Amino acid sequence: MSDVISDAVRPIVWSGDHLKLLDQRELPARETWVACRSAADVATAIHGMAVRGAPAIGIAAAYGLALDAMAGRDYDAAEQVLAASRPTAVNLRWALDRMRRLANRSAAALRDEAQAIHREDLAQNLRMGELGAALLPERGARILTHCNTGALATGGHGTALGVIRTAWQQGRIAQVYNTETRPWLQGARLTAWELMREGIPTRLIADGAAAHLMSREKIDWVIVGADRIAANGDTANKIGTYALAIAARHHGAKFMVVAPTSTFDPACPDGTCIPIEERLATELTQYQDRVWAPAGVGTWNPVFDVTPAALIDVIVSERGVSGPGEAVRGMSD
Ligand code: MRU
Repeated sequence: MSDVISDAVRPIVWSGDHLKLLDQRELPARETWVACRSAADVATAIHGMAVRGAPAIGIAAAYGLALDAMAGRDYDAAEQVLAASRPTAVNLRWALDRMRRLANRSAAALRDEAQAIHREDLAQNLRMGELGAALLPERGARILTHCNTGALATGGHGTALGVIRTAWQQGRIAQVYNTETRPWLQGARLTAWELMREGIPTRLIADGAAAHLMSREKIDWVIVGADRIAANGDTANKIGTYALAIAARHHGAKFMVVAPTSTFDPACPDGTCIPIEERLATELTQYQDRVWAPAGVGTWNPVFDVTPAALIDVIVSERGVSGPGEAVRGMSD
């Protein structure tokens, strides 16, 4: 199925009897859509990264449960296949738990709940955009961001990229730098695409250029998203985030994490208990069909890392702005 997307990027579209996902493996070269008609289809799309980004994974999983309920399939089996699709983003578990409360209700009730999760995520992003943008200089801000945290990764607008979007609309931004984000290139392929669509000035850099950039130019804020924030504020995000936080502290750039409370995991005391996904060697040894590493080379491909709370200046959620130690406190109440 293919489609043309409107100005606002909407990667997750409910079509009445199925779910359409903008295939992020194909961007920016092609805008194609994956049609999901079951929880298993959605789980395959999540695992295969057709849909990615912590909040988007949660939203898609909620729709997956609704799809199986509409087809009269077993609820527990649907939940299990979705829960196993990716391990690090706690938004997935959060969405499944929220839907579980309605497990005995009608398929229509589950569909409505999935749509509510989707709508609420967009509203939360708009709120975080305002809160985060207010922390930036009024003019001339220079920002570095990592991975893709935009409309593609969420219900719309984005988390870290949502702050950048709102700050741009307010005239605060002079220059964005966005990392390539190896090995999957979320930054080069997706963030650059989203920023350029809106005319937000961005310069793509190699991941390894970030510390050098900070040594040569003043970067006011490094702004990133999160896949899971532990109770003490330790934050799992795309591999390379930790290195950016160390470089930011060394060079006096502030470090902001932007994530809705669905990314908070109060049951996890610190970063050591966050499961870190490891993906296939082929993400390192080749891009699509082009193989560049010698056959048989040993590899290790963790796709997230944990930034210690001590390196984070603020966490912005829809509830407000806090220091990393305070952000998750009270969530389990
Ligand atoms: O592997 P991905 O592309 O799903 O990783 C995404 C990230 O690490 C994002 O920074 C995070 O999910 C926040 S998205 C708003």
